Amino acid sequence: MKKILVTGGAGYIGSHTVVELVEAGYEPIIVDNFSNSEESALEGIAAIVGRNVTCHRVDCTDSKALREVFEKEQDIVGVIHFAANKAVGESVENPLKYYHNNVGSLVALLQVMEEFKVNKLVFSSSCTVYGVPESLPVTEETPVQKANSPYGNTKKICEEILTDVAASGSTLKSIALRYFNPIGAHPSAKIGELPLGVPSNLVPFITQTAIGMREQLTIFGNDYDTPDGTNIRDYVHVVDLAKAHVVAVERLLEEKGESLEFFNIGTGNGTTVLEAVKAFESATGVKLNYKIGPRRAGDVPKIYADVAKATEALGFKTTSTLEEAMKSAWDWQVSLKESTAKV
Ligand code: UD1
Repeated sequence: MKKILVTGGAGYIGSHTVVELVEAGYEPIIVDNFSNSEESALEGIAAIVGRNVTCHRVDCTDSKALREVFEKEQDIVGVIHFAANKAVGESVENPLKYYHNNVGSLVALLQVMEEFKVNKLVFSSSCTVYGVPESLPVTEETPVQKANSPYGNTKKICEEILTDVAASGSTLKSIALRYFNPIGAHPSAKIGELPLGVPSNLVPFITQTAIGMREQLTIFGNDYDTPDGTNIRDYVHVVDLAKAHVVAVERLLEEKGESLEFFNIGTGNGTTVLEAVKAFESATGVKLNYKIGPRRAGDVPKIYADVAKATEALGFKTTSTLEEAMKSAWDWQVSLKESTAKV
């Protein structure tokens, strides 16, 4: 079985991708420092795929430790690099943490990959690189803009690093997937998102409110230029997103495409915050306590993906509806409560 190193493989998108890799016949090798993930994710993965997946507790900024993993594992044919910090607000308060972890880990990883002649990489990028886009939907040709947070800037810088490496004549072949808004959980409810503290993302805040951990959801503004005044996003089921990584790996291994390619990974549909709340309510039958509050600083009024390039080149197509994604997020939240209740 072909070994794919998955950094951040115990995290939210990483754990779902590990499952899809196993189901597609690959041998994922997880590298995670568990700074923002839990070992229980490994148990969840094992319960879904029916066996343990190898995991190395390693910080990806540590080249020496990474080198040991490559030495030990041998025959790694490609890498999917998820390991990164992702809280926008925290990145504003502690930018050096973000530059060190997000940029430092990519540089360390690329150096070690070069030493071991592993030259296939899928990188986790974000639609944050488009900033406030001038026209919608955004294609991969939509200009990248100045980042509005250190977190966003790390994604932009990492894309630039990959661009420079590609231009250097290196043998590296990489694909940067620009995620829109990942939501939901595995349908088994054995893995899902585990936000630390108060979630800043919409769907975990919704599910935590619905289950009674938070009193009320505040919708950040209803005076935007959108049909109901609330922000528009492209919410993509995390399992669909995970599958995009498998087809990206396949494209790299088949030596198709340019040395560096960018793909939008979303559904192609724009959804307002109010529509997302309604979808949650209709999918779960649970009424949500929410109010309209002021705008959140730095929010992009509206963004959604043009996914034609990913559909054409990767054969990528989402299969889950927004309601299915909301239902899976809810089932996961309920299962977390049940497992805490048992302790
Ligand atoms: C945010 C980041 C983005 C990052 C992504 C990572 C900002 C401006 N953007 O995306 O760069 O890649 O997280 O996960 O922070 N909302 C509410 N109430 C809430 C929470 C959210 O109304 O309590 C609204 C937001 O205003 C937004 C939508 O829900 O319109 C989605 O918000 P969120 O889940 O935080 O994602 P983004 O802001 O799109």
